Amino acid sequence: MGEVSNEVRRLETLIEINALINSQYRDVRVLLSRIMESAERLIGSDASSLLLVDSGTKQLYFEIALGDKGDDVKKYILEMGEGIAGWVAVNNRSLVVNDAENDPRHFSLIGEDTGYKTRNLIAVPLRAKDEVIGVLEVINKSDGDNFNDEDLRFLEVLADQASIAIQNARDFGQLSSELDKLRSRVRSVSDSIEKEFIWKSPLTGRVLEQADRIASADSPVLILGESGSGKELLADRVHVNSDRKDGPFIKVNCAAIPQDLIEAELFGYVKGAFTDAVRDKQGYFERADGGTLFLDEIAELSQAAQAKLLRVLQDGSFQRVGGESSVKVDVRVVAATNEDLTDCVEAGNFRQDLYYRLAVLPVVMPPLRERPEDIEALAYHFLKGFREERNDVPVSFSLDALEVLLSYRWPGNVRELQNAVERAVITCRGKKEIEPEDLALPGKNRETVEYRGKNLKDSVTLFKKSFVREVLLAHGGNQTLAANALGIQRTYLSRMIKELNIDHRGDEA
Ligand SMILES: Nc1ncnc2c1ncn2[C@@H]1O[C@H](COP(=O)(O)OP(=O)(O)OP(=O)(O)O)[C@@H](O)[C@H]1O
Ligand SMILES: [Mg+2]
Repeated sequence: MGEVSNEVRRLETLIEINALINSQYRDVRVLLSRIMESAERLIGSDASSLLLVDSGTKQLYFEIALGDKGDDVKKYILEMGEGIAGWVAVNNRSLVVNDAENDPRHFSLIGEDTGYKTRNLIAVPLRAKDEVIGVLEVINKSDGDNFNDEDLRFLEVLADQASIAIQNARDFGQLSSELDKLRSRVRSVSDSIEKEFIWKSPLTGRVLEQADRIASADSPVLILGESGSGKELLADRVHVNSDRKDGPFIKVNCAAIPQDLIEAELFGYVKGAFTDAVRDKQGYFERADGGTLFLDEIAELSQAAQAKLLRVLQDGSFQRVGGESSVKVDVRVVAATNEDLTDCVEAGNFRQDLYYRLAVLPVVMPPLRERPEDIEALAYHFLKGFREERNDVPVSFSLDALEVLLSYRWPGNVRELQNAVERAVITCRGKKEIEPEDLALPGKNRETVEYRGKNLKDSVTLFKKSFVREVLLAHGGNQTLAANALGIQRTYLSRMIKELNIDHRGDEA
C-alpha cells in the first residue's frame, strides 16, 4: 500500500516538475532546488547536491547543496575524476555507493572538514546532448537503509528534467545577452548610417566639436537643450566616438517609467524585494556594463534612484533593490533633460550633489532658431529621406517656403521641422516644389522672424513681408479686407505685394 502511494507521489512530482520546466524556465535555481527537494523527499535522503561542470576550467562546482552542511559544502571545487561526483562526470555513468567510507573513489576531505559523514549516496550524470554538464547526487538514505535500483531510476529521471531546465536557462540567458548585444550594435550602426547629424551653423559646429572632445573622457555627460533639439542624437554621437563604442549602449527614458519602479528598473532587484519580485533581475546599469547608459529626461528620477545614481557615479557600485551585496559596474552615464536642472534643485526635486556630479561636462544643444543656417540643410535632408520612401515627393522647396522655414520660431525644434516637412510631402501632391501653405505652420508664431545677422533694412523688409503675408492669409487672400486690417490703402498693399514678391493667393491651396 505504502509502495503504491509512493510511486503515485513520484509520478505526480514528475508531472509537476515537467509543468514547471515548461513555464518557469527563467527561475532555474528555484526550479533545480525544487527538483532536489523532491528527490530528497521521495527517495528519502538527508542531503543532496547539484554540481556543474565549469565550461572554462572543466572543474566541478556546487551550484546547489541542500542539507545541514549545504552552505559549507558549496565552497569546494572538484577536479574531473575527483571524488564520486568526479568519477560520474568523467565516466558519464550513474553510481550507487552503499559503503562510501570504503569506496576508494570517495573524496573524504569534504566530510572531514565539515564534520558530515557520508554513509551512502547515488550520483547520476546531468547530460546535454550526451555530454556531461554536471552531476546530481542524493546522500544518506534516511532510515539507515541502502539505496536501491528504484531510487536510482527515479533520480535518473529527475536528472534528465534538471538537465533540460539548465539547458533552457542557458539558451535563454545566451539568447537574451546576444539579443542585447545585437540590439545595441544594430542601433549604433543604424544611428551612424541613417541618423546622420546634419549641420551648417558654426554654432552647431562648435557644439559638435565640444561633444567629440568630451566623448573620449570617461566622466558623466549632461546634455541640455529644448525638446526636439537633437539631444538624443548627440548622446549617440558621444557613445559612438568613445572607447566604449563596441560595448552596450542602453537608452532609458526616465519619464516613461513609473516613479515607484524606476529604482528597480535601473538597478535591478533580488527575489522577494517586493511582491512581484519572483526572481532576481538585472537592471539597466548591469546590462550597460562596459558601455554607455543614456538616461533621458533625468529630471524625472525618483529621490531613491537619485541617491543610488549618485553613488554609482562616485564609486561605480550599488545594491540591487532588496539586496545586500554591492554590485560593481563600469558604466558611463550620459544624461539629458529639457528642464532647467538648477530650477529643479532649487525646488528641492533634484539633489544638488547629483547635479554637480552630472554637470561636470555639460553640453548645451542650442534651439533651432539660434542656428538658422541648419534649417535649410535639415529640411532638404528630411525631404530626401521621404523621397527614398515614396516617389511622388518634390525635389525642392520654393524660395517662399524656405523663407517661411527660416522665419518660423520652431518651438519644437528639429522634430517639429521634420514633422512639417512630412506634412508638406503629404499635402503637396503633384507639385514640383513645396510651397509655404504646404508647410501649414501655425501663424501665431510667425511674427518671430529670425533677424540675427541681418542689417536694419533687410530686417524691416523681412518683417513687412512676413507680417503682410500673415494678414493676407488670415483674410483668405482678400486684399481689401487685409488692407483694412493693416490700416493702409488697398493700392499701397498691392504695390507691396509686387515689390516684396509676396505670395498673395492667401490660403487657397
Ligand atoms: N542635427 C540633426 N540632424 C539630423 N537629424 C536631427 C538632428 N537633430 C535632431 N534630429 C532629429 O530630430 C528628432 C528629434 O531629435 P532628438 O530625439 O535627438 O531630440 P531630443 O532633444 O532628444 O528631444 P526630446 O527632448 O523631445 O527628447 C529625431 O528624429 C532626430 O533624429
Ligand atoms: Mg530625447
